[in-house]
Amino acid sequence: MNDSKIPPQIHDLLQEIGKEVHQPIYVVGGFVRDLLLRRENLDLDIVIEGDAIAFAQYLTDKWDGRLQSHRKFGTATVTRPDGFKIDFVSARSETYEHPAALPLVRWGTIEDDLYRRDFSMNALAMDLNPDSFGALVDCTDGLKDLRAGNIRVLHNQSFIHDPTRIFRAIRYEQRYGFQIVENDQTLIREAICQGVLEFVSGQRIRNEIDCILAEETVPRTVQRLREFDLFRAIQPKWSVPVDFTTRWNAARKAIDWASKYLSEDKINIDAMLWMTLLGCLHATEAVSNRLGLENQLRSKLIAKGRLCKTLDKLNPDSKPSEVYMLLKPYPLEALVFTLMQVDWQTENIKNYLIKLRRVQPLISGDDLIQLGLKPGRCFTDLLWKAFSAQLDGKVFTKQEIYQLLRIKDEI
Ligand code: CTP
Repeated sequence: MNDSKIPPQIHDLLQEIGKEVHQPIYVVGGFVRDLLLRRENLDLDIVIEGDAIAFAQYLTDKWDGRLQSHRKFGTATVTRPDGFKIDFVSARSETYEHPAALPLVRWGTIEDDLYRRDFSMNALAMDLNPDSFGALVDCTDGLKDLRAGNIRVLHNQSFIHDPTRIFRAIRYEQRYGFQIVENDQTLIREAICQGVLEFVSGQRIRNEIDCILAEETVPRTVQRLREFDLFRAIQPKWSVPVDFTTRWNAARKAIDWASKYLSEDKINIDAMLWMTLLGCLHATEAVSNRLGLENQLRSKLIAKGRLCKTLDKLNPDSKPSEVYMLLKPYPLEALVFTLMQVDWQTENIKNYLIKLRRVQPLISGDDLIQLGLKPGRCFTDLLWKAFSAQLDGKVFTKQEIYQLLRIKDEI
């Protein structure tokens, strides 16, 4: 294959790796696929017909890098001193005992290793051994499929053995403008009907959805997931809002807006992207449970679900203190996302985000103590009365607050 398209530094690195070993060694998967498609991909997955961990250890010592290895899986990642990472794996064949189970692994040849993979276009390898450097290994007609834009599994049980491949097929289809071949669309529908997704952990599904949200074709991909009724298969209450594309555009705008106007705040972008996929509160809770979302993300999504009801309590004449009190419990992500999504209450939300939430109270409990008041429950009421008057522009100094609270009279 034409290795002149490989960036020079990577080319040198691959040649160096090939020279250091006496067993057959290959770069495989996404790197080869994208090289043939002339797309940049710097993820190096190296397969060696031999002990990958021992070889990775040797390169780590040579480069003075760092090694992370998983003996159980025969995999290792070498991080070079400049931070560049390379994955190594021993060539293996895999068999599955039941749907979505972890595979039983045996060492094997490069052909075994390619046959265990998801799609023919990902089952391509490029030889790194000096005598045959750059030769393509294609035992599944991957190149033909790549040229035709076909996404094709290598055997009929593929989606049943590893149901995450359903998400991967759809993600690639939209990323490259390819098509899942007819037979495989049927296999996907059959696998979903058989309930294979029930066997997949929430974490694995969540990872797949995170990968989808990181693509540039999200609205089309989500539409396709809906065509296969995948969301409902993950959790029966999950129906992605019909106005997904509008929500997605709102989220993108919200992220831009936040980076401009709330640059000092830490905004969780993933949370805003996830908000596009979840509508009503009820479903949000069910999906969060199914996917095992971490508490921080879950609470932001649930808050977003609640916010609409809160906004109903506000109107254009609401006082700043009312706006403050109602919006204060909500995370910034929920507020910014909603700001871009609704065309009502925008002034109230903006005023809160940009101005009100940054106002510092003129007086604190210490001031009240210094004035001789005894700390107690009344402090909360007094301090809120003072702060709300301040927010509403009725008082501007401590003295005005004391007058308002009639504290001076009481002492
Ligand atoms: N793979 C697989 N089945 C999976 C996941 C991965 O067979 N469920 C194989 C594929 O051969 C894939 C390789 O492992 O090419 C590496 O996986 P990954 O890094 O997830 O994919 P890439 O091909 O690098 O694609 P992407 O550009 O999406 O990262």
